[in-house]
Amino acid sequence: MVLLLRASTCTLIARHVPLLSSARLQHRRSLFFAAKTFSRSASSAASKRARSHVHASIVQAGGITISREDVVKEDDPTNNVPDSVFWKLGLQLHRRDDHPLGILKNEIYKFFEDKFPGKYQKFDDLSPIVSVTSNFDDVLVPPDHVSRRYNDTYYINSDTVLRTHTSAHQAQKLREGCTHFLVTGDVYRRDSIDATHYPVFHQMEGFRVFSPAEWDASGMDGTSFALQDLKETLEGLAKRLFGDVETRWVDTYFPFTNPSIELEIFFQGNWLEVLGCGVTEPAILENNGRAGTVAWAFGLGLERLAMVLFDIPDIRLFWSSDLRFTSQFKAGQLGIKFKPFSKFPPCYKDISFWISDSFTENNLCEVVRGIAGDLAEEVKLIDSFTNKKGMTSNCFRIAYRSMERSLTDDEINNLQARVREEVPGKLQVTLR
Ligand code: PHE
Repeated sequence: MVLLLRASTCTLIARHVPLLSSARLQHRRSLFFAAKTFSRSASSAASKRARSHVHASIVQAGGITISREDVVKEDDPTNNVPDSVFWKLGLQLHRRDDHPLGILKNEIYKFFEDKFPGKYQKFDDLSPIVSVTSNFDDVLVPPDHVSRRYNDTYYINSDTVLRTHTSAHQAQKLREGCTHFLVTGDVYRRDSIDATHYPVFHQMEGFRVFSPAEWDASGMDGTSFALQDLKETLEGLAKRLFGDVETRWVDTYFPFTNPSIELEIFFQGNWLEVLGCGVTEPAILENNGRAGTVAWAFGLGLERLAMVLFDIPDIRLFWSSDLRFTSQFKAGQLGIKFKPFSKFPPCYKDISFWISDSFTENNLCEVVRGIAGDLAEEVKLIDSFTNKKGMTSNCFRIAYRSMERSLTDDEINNLQARVREEVPGKLQVTLR
């Protein structure tokens, strides 16, 4: 039987904005990834070759120096961070004023500055290495929530992760006394490979605390007051970014807000989710020195918005240092439409294997990215069947394509050979 629907189609929806929207996450693949099954000690000469590329083994982020050894620990079963992700840590695309993500960040800053001059504190250089407590517990993510799994999150060790969302900084900023803030940063999630998924992307978190005096005068209760203010603020932001668009609110679930809603905009014939938000759970305010107040929070995905605003067709392009990409954008200019400079054909290679219980598509994608890096455009399940003995075979089609140049047959065959070499040992599957 041919499985036409990708098992991870739903991850695509869950990934973009509402990481923790549980209604959607219930659809996520629930295969549990035990750290042990992704043994890096089996790491072959191939990954050593990858490491010897001329990449810095030290990066700067969040005001600290991070060395490769701090983040990538091949022999530690509680660590699942690959080199390819470590190298992204110091890049901070959102801090480049002439990069689409930086241009968008600055435009959102301007919106808040125009509406509330001097009110919002802005942070865009907080370290992406955070505790499990900050990333999950402080924002009330239940202990058994799917987003905590090794299959979904990059763990440096069992207590420390690469932040999966900018909500990881909410509690800390509240404790520091902030009441109006915007936190922009790179966030990290293990995921599938296609034009809209990349293990690193960027979010902006917004947070605003209200004191009782602010809602008392309105005659509304605090929650209704905050919700109304949140909607007005974000509808205003959507209009500023997209022009006079139609918007709608959709109910959802996040552990840290109640009610929780998503904003969708009608764009090019479709409703598009642009952000998740809601009224902050009172426990977060109480636990962090703000009992008796009410607050709202939102989190928006910058790539998602920028792909639409700048007509950028593939998420890998954000990471391109090719001048034909970078030179098309100018600081302060939101409306520029990207003109594709190449249409090199993709090359497809299939790989089939008998899977084991611990197999997950995210782990396969990690191996492929480790070898092919940004040349991997898509990994797609194209066939799956179970034989009479109960063994299940999967066939994945890998699309290799460079955004910048033609790839040679030799180069692709070599990449595919390395994938075939590493997959059995790393994923405990048997090639067919
Ligand atoms: N942290 C959520 C996500 O990554 C977004 C969000 C932020 C939702 C703040 C509500 C409030 O999907």
